[in-house]
Amino acid sequence: MNITKDIIYIGVNDHDVDLFEGQYIVPDGMAYNSYLVKGEKTAVMDTVDKHFRDQWLENLDKALEGAEPDYLIVQHMEPDHSANIAVFMEKYPKAVVCASKQAFNMMKNFFGTDFAERNMTVGEGSVLDLGGHVLRFVAAPMVHWPEVVMTYDETEKVFFSADAFGKFGALDAPPDPEGWACEARRYYIGIVGKFGPQVQNLLKKAAGLDISVICPLHGPVLTEDLGYYIGLYDTWSSYRSEDKGVTIAYTSVYGNTKQAAELLAERLEARGVEAHVSDLARDDMAEVVEDAFRYDRIVLATTTYAGDIFPFMKTFIDHLTERNFQNRTVAFIENGSWAPVAAKKMRTMLECCKDLTFAETTVTVTSALNEKSRAAIEALAEELASL
Ligand code: FEO
Repeated sequence: MNITKDIIYIGVNDHDVDLFEGQYIVPDGMAYNSYLVKGEKTAVMDTVDKHFRDQWLENLDKALEGAEPDYLIVQHMEPDHSANIAVFMEKYPKAVVCASKQAFNMMKNFFGTDFAERNMTVGEGSVLDLGGHVLRFVAAPMVHWPEVVMTYDETEKVFFSADAFGKFGALDAPPDPEGWACEARRYYIGIVGKFGPQVQNLLKKAAGLDISVICPLHGPVLTEDLGYYIGLYDTWSSYRSEDKGVTIAYTSVYGNTKQAAELLAERLEARGVEAHVSDLARDDMAEVVEDAFRYDRIVLATTTYAGDIFPFMKTFIDHLTERNFQNRTVAFIENGSWAPVAAKKMRTMLECCKDLTFAETTVTVTSALNEKSRAAIEALAEELASL
C-alpha cells in the first residue's frame, strides 16, 4: 500500500493480542505500523511486534522489489515496534541502524548489542539524506519513552510520529462508528496521558513543520483535516476538558451505592446535564479513565471498606493521579454502614492533583438510600448542574 509516491506501508494487524501493553483490551485488535521510504537509498521506519516477524519481513521484501534496505530507523524502543531489530540486522548485513543515544543503550539491554559497527546516532535536527528524500529528526523525549525520536520527511512533507497520533484497533477492522477520537483518546489518556508537557513541546515543534501526512506507529495514516487531530492532542495534553458532562464512577458491593450513582445520573439528566455512569469493577477501567479526562466534572462513589475505600476505586484514583489528573470539578458519594470515611479518604488521595475544585455537597449513604441521602443527591445534582 503506497502512502505517497515513495512511502510504502509494510505494517501488520494483530487480532490475537489479549491485552495491549499488558493492560488494555483491544476489541478491534491493534496495528503495528512500519513504513519503507524509497529514495536513492531506502529507509525502513521501525519494525513490528515479535509475533509478526515473518509477515513483516515478507511485506518489506515485497516493497523493496529486489533492493536492499540501507537504513533501519528506530524511533521508539518499546517491543511492539523494536522486537525485530536484531533479526533485521542479521538478515541485511549492510544496513545501518539509526536511533537516539538512549535507544542504543536500550538495544544493549534488549539484544545484548548496539550494533556498534553499523549504527548512526541521531537527535534533534539531525538529517539523513537518502538522495531524493531528506529525513529530519525531531527529538520527542517522554512521548512516551525517553529515547523517542520522530522523523519528518521534508521531501513529501510526511511526519512519522512514533506512538503519537496512534489509536487502538487494527487497520482491517470495521470502521469505528464513533470515529477516530474514541479509541485514540482511550489510547492517549492511558498510555501518554502523564506526559502532557512533553506532548505540548512536540506540538510546538510540529507547528513549525509543513505537514501533509502523519504516519503514526498505530492506527490509520492521517491525510486530511490534520488540524482536527492536532487540536485534540492540544486539548488532551493541556488537560483541558474536551466536553461538558459528568463522569460518575462507582463501586458497589450490594447495589446500594450503584443506586445512589444511578439516581444522581437521573437527576442530572433531568436538568439537561450529560452523565456517564460506570461500574469500576465490571466496566473497562481504561474507558472510565478516558471519560474522567474527557468531561469537566466527575463524581466518585464508593463504599467504606476495611477502614479505607473499596479496592477498585483505589486503583481508579491511582490511574487518575499517575496521569496528572487536574483542572476538573470533583464530588463524592460515600457509603458506610457504621463509620463512613470513604469521601475523606478519596479526597486525601486526590490532594496531589493540581487545580481541582471540590463540590460543596458530599453525599453520605448509611447502608441504603433514605430520605436524607436522596435529598443530598438532589442537592449535588443541582450544584453540579449549576457549573
Ligand atoms: Fe507502541 Fe510505546 O509502543
